[in-house]
Amino acid sequence: MTAVTVRVPAKVNVQLAVGGRRPDGFHDLANVFLAVGLYDHVTATSADGLTVTAEGRDVEGIPLDASNLAARAAIALAERHGIAPDVHLHIAKDIPVAGGMAGGSADGAGALLACDALWGLHTPMDELLRIAGELGSDVPFPLLGGAALGVGRGERLTALEAGGAFHWVFALADGGLSTPEVYRECDRLRREGGAGDLVGEVPEPAADPALVAALAAGDAHALARVLANDLQEAALSLRPALADTVAAGLGAGALAGIVSGSGPTVAFLAADAEGAAKIAGALGGRARVAPAPAAGAAVLP
Ligand code: C5P
Repeated sequence: MTAVTVRVPAKVNVQLAVGGRRPDGFHDLANVFLAVGLYDHVTATSADGLTVTAEGRDVEGIPLDASNLAARAAIALAERHGIAPDVHLHIAKDIPVAGGMAGGSADGAGALLACDALWGLHTPMDELLRIAGELGSDVPFPLLGGAALGVGRGERLTALEAGGAFHWVFALADGGLSTPEVYRECDRLRREGGAGDLVGEVPEPAADPALVAALAAGDAHALARVLANDLQEAALSLRPALADTVAAGLGAGALAGIVSGSGPTVAFLAADAEGAAKIAGALGGRARVAPAPAAGAAVLP
């Protein structure tokens, strides 16, 4: 085989419960991921040495050196097998860059799977998930897709049932938000509120049973009532205009609107496909409709 293409989905966090700041700087999470039908494609081609190219909107913001998560994934997988990371990686981006939809993490997951196939390694999935978790908190989930609860930094996954079909609309923003900055702002707001921001000072994060049940039942109305993102206040604090976006989507009939992950993408849950089309129309050019749950990363035939 000389080239392998992997299709890999974006995610929305239907619940992002953020616990206290740990001594290592990360936060304990209860992170309920849902894979959505917006995809990047990662193509791995046999090469001498490691190179990365990218195409798509806003790709100027992506590093093309060894700091790219896809490149780091290739290096980590090659190291694990004691081989050289000889591959050219091409990333065709449709997931918004720095948008809170784990696009960079998706590329890391896609590169792991693509390189594994290109190099004929047949690495077991649990080993791929472990490597992914070392690369970043959000890298394992796109390998699974569907829905899952992530604990620890968010990288330790348990699959969740996701029934039916959920219709989402994503309002893409101009310019990304930095995930570490949003976490720092969350900590700052907590300290300002007087409760403190450390483990022990913040309630332990836990998955909401009502949310898990709504996901399993495929019940959009029930899910809309319990969507929750502890990073939303921080994202709104750093980007106050997002409040107008949330209001616009709700005004167009969304069941609920929530900042996706660390933002600035805003995710709207619609009652059905027609509702989603109407919300997207009202939001204008930078809105994208996407169904969920989506399947995890897969090698294309
Ligand atoms: O793991 P990942 O590289 O995606 O994390 C990016 C940044 O997000 C971390 O450096 C940290 O600032 C923040 N983060 C966190 N707690 C988590 C996950 C991420 O504070 N559980």
